[in-house]
Amino acid sequence: MIDVDFLSYLEEKLDKVEQRMVSNADGYHPDLIAALNHLMSAGGKRIRPIITLLMGTLLGAEEEKMISLSASIELLHTATLVHDDLIDGALLRRGNPTLNSHWTPAATVLTGDYIFAQAARLAAEIGSTEAMSLFAETLSIIVNGELSQLFDRSQVPSREDYYHRIYEKTGSLFALSARAAALISPADRKYIKLAEAYGREIGKAFQIVDDVLDFTGDQARVGKPIGSDLRHGVPTLPAIYYGEQHPDDLVLLSCLEGSATEAEADALIQRINASGAIQQSLEEARHCTEIAVKSLQDFPAAREKDSLEKLGSFITDRDL
Ligand code: IPE
Ligand code: IPE
Ligand code: MG
Ligand code: MG
Repeated sequence: MIDVDFLSYLEEKLDKVEQRMVSNADGYHPDLIAALNHLMSAGGKRIRPIITLLMGTLLGAEEEKMISLSASIELLHTATLVHDDLIDGALLRRGNPTLNSHWTPAATVLTGDYIFAQAARLAAEIGSTEAMSLFAETLSIIVNGELSQLFDRSQVPSREDYYHRIYEKTGSLFALSARAAALISPADRKYIKLAEAYGREIGKAFQIVDDVLDFTGDQARVGKPIGSDLRHGVPTLPAIYYGEQHPDDLVLLSCLEGSATEAEADALIQRINASGAIQQSLEEARHCTEIAVKSLQDFPAAREKDSLEKLGSFITDRDL
């Protein structure tokens, strides 16, 4: 998990989430079991379960349900990463080689499918059909975001299109993490929509910072390759801002079309890093977290509420 003082009181509950994520895979193929162990040992920031636990505790949800919900969401996230790395041809994740780096696409897809199935099993354990259908709907939205990114290439999208795509890819799962926690709690239903808004905006900020770190990050710290978005023709917010200010920089288009050389891509990444586009993107991320924090206004005062607020600054200031 992310190692920050203001979340240390969550450690025990997060350990329970980790345990629940491990399925009993007895009788399944040994290679599948090895892959699951490999994925679990790599860890991750566990930021989505953290949001679920904070929101659920704040609104008085039952611990058992919160643990299952958190584990289910983190498994859904893990499965999307397994497929995403295959789609993106990414070789490193959480500082470890990805499954697709040493396995066939078929084996990688099937492992992702298994993890999706385990995520659904845990979501069903909560015993809420409303949560279960949100879970399914969110996965459909994520898939649509990944598909749009795949198909709408070779051009610089508008900022509007980008914001929509990051909502689908990432904001939607953060929204589920907060919204489903409110849903399974006994608190007034007015909190469900507010929790959803919190998660959605925090999630968008999270993805914007992830996209910034792809330009500015330190690979050892981030645990995945730097500079890979543009090299793979994926236009993100820093590139979009840069493109608006430098419509004559043709290397941007050739990067998106996949015809730029390595050296051209390197030089473009440096130009984007040196431009104001990085700061503009971070300001946008901060704007999203401000909206997120505002949606918590009417929530009861508690340390979990303080932590949800602090998570906003953690996300925009992070370097991992
Ligand atoms: C990676 O998510 C995918 C994005 C939405 C940017 P995280 O950065 O939460 O990944 P882990 O779980 O900590 O590895
Ligand atoms: C995140 O997409 C994956 C999903 C939300 C499914 P990215 O491709 O932008 O994330 P990283 O950079 O690989 O973690
Ligand atoms: Mg990726
Ligand atoms: Mg991707």
